[in-house]
Amino acid sequence: MTSRRKTYDELRSARWYGAKDMRSFGHRSRTKQMGYSAEDYAGKPVIAILNTWSDINPCHEHFRDRAQAVKRGVLQAGGFPLEMPAMALGEVFMKPSTMMYRNLLAMEAEELLRANPIDGVVLMGGCDKTVPALVMGALSMNLPAIFLPAGPMLIGRWQGKQLGSGSDVWKYWSELRAGNITEEDWQGIEDGISRSAGTCMTMGTASTMAAVTEAMGLSLPGASSIPAVDSAHERMAAASGRRIVELVWQDVRPRDLVTQAAVDNGITTLMAIGGSTNAVIHLVAMAGRAGIKLPLEHFDKISRQTPFLANIRPSGKYLMEDFCYAGGLPALLRQLGSLLELGAPTVNGKSLGENIARAEIYNDDVIRTRNQALQPEGGLAVLKGNLAPNGAVIKPPAMEQRLLRHRGPAVVFSDYNDLNRRIDDPTLEVTADSVLVLQNAGPHGAPGMPEWGQLPIPKKLLAQGVRDMVRISDARMSGTSYGACVLHVSPESYIGGPLALVQSGDIVELDVPGRKLTLAVADEELARRRARWVSPQPRYQRSYGALFDKHVGQAEIGCDFDFLAGDAAVPEPEIH
Ligand code: FES
Repeated sequence: MTSRRKTYDELRSARWYGAKDMRSFGHRSRTKQMGYSAEDYAGKPVIAILNTWSDINPCHEHFRDRAQAVKRGVLQAGGFPLEMPAMALGEVFMKPSTMMYRNLLAMEAEELLRANPIDGVVLMGGCDKTVPALVMGALSMNLPAIFLPAGPMLIGRWQGKQLGSGSDVWKYWSELRAGNITEEDWQGIEDGISRSAGTCMTMGTASTMAAVTEAMGLSLPGASSIPAVDSAHERMAAASGRRIVELVWQDVRPRDLVTQAAVDNGITTLMAIGGSTNAVIHLVAMAGRAGIKLPLEHFDKISRQTPFLANIRPSGKYLMEDFCYAGGLPALLRQLGSLLELGAPTVNGKSLGENIARAEIYNDDVIRTRNQALQPEGGLAVLKGNLAPNGAVIKPPAMEQRLLRHRGPAVVFSDYNDLNRRIDDPTLEVTADSVLVLQNAGPHGAPGMPEWGQLPIPKKLLAQGVRDMVRISDARMSGTSYGACVLHVSPESYIGGPLALVQSGDIVELDVPGRKLTLAVADEELARRRARWVSPQPRYQRSYGALFDKHVGQAEIGCDFDFLAGDAAVPEPEIH
């Protein structure tokens, strides 16, 4: 970062607008075609507003209005705003998983910025994969950028109870299957659980990634916790618009902010909020775009030294609206104090430490102080062993603690269809001590690594009162999910990882305190099984699926495409 302000001629967009040749004539005349005059753009930074609004993404329903607020802010600060649509990645609708399309949006964001006369960008995202995707694209293009989070939706309500996105769906689905609630109840939950625009209001992937992004310095202080429909959200959008113009003149770029210190702040935040397991994959991928390598052990190390402070579902009791009004992320970060790199710079021009210096907790049951932490250690653990040589993750605060050390026989499902076919079969040989294993649900296997990792408890065990058991897969799980679910097992079964060799009846040992995941089968027997294992045929002959299958990486390297990962320089387009 330099303290010198740029001149207009040094702006990237000046190459399009400022020259005196025929091409520049075209750029100016076509801008005038849209009703703009030279007074709108001449001598001003061009600010892209990358908007992931769509009719098929309810979490971003307010983004058309918010884009207007961003424009207002850009105009106030003397910039020229241009709204540009980008893929919406509506989490609940896209199949097999939005994860399959995260890298596509990252690529779209990067190329939209590269190909157009853009000097800086406000990234409008929130629904799960939109956050890492936009940040990955922005890091790769490395133009000044601010992330504007969609904000959580209002708290769900039903029969006087509060409902949390996702978490209460899983909970009441189990109760419906166990016969403890009626179809009428289930309908009431459907009507009451999603009450406004905004992202899932539990500490799911959206809330987690927004918090992590703010902690890394890419959003304005406090932005990540503001409910989507609070008027403070609109003011934050306008402030983001004002600030990006200044970032362009000061030439502050994402890679100036996303250093190892900032990434560590993101990981510490993830652990303190008991955030989504998905954030591990996304942080590895985002950091990779800034040239920073993140081994899984680094997450585990930070987790062991970070107290868990955010009493938010699925690992806690409250919801994101409560979190905001209890002080929001700045109040939680202030508690972490010296566990953070407080000197890390942020988009508002101040250090993280300066931004949180006066943040207060207004409800210390929602945001715990360090001496009243929910748990002394953070929200995630990394496991290794002969069943997951390259790693797997689990969320200890969100599971029944009796299962932290567990040994039991595997019940294996060869894929998601097999799981759905047999899980409620009354003849299925399964007890509360069994370990449910799902194969072929990883990046290549599913494909796209869907959120199937919270395998349902078999109906007959639900009727016995069982609500948690050990489950293992190479899938992910929703950040709103909970339970003793071992996820992201790598290498995945579809490419011949040891998970492919597990058979029903094999003994599996989970040891979370010891960070171990072991298949208690002799090496010779595993070698025999491996010799018989047949590699599946590629599923796609053409289309994006073929590109994905050829280039996607495993979970521990962030599932980025090999040709997108890293921080190698890409040439600017020639303007002819
Ligand atoms: Fe969009 Fe959960 S479905 S954030």
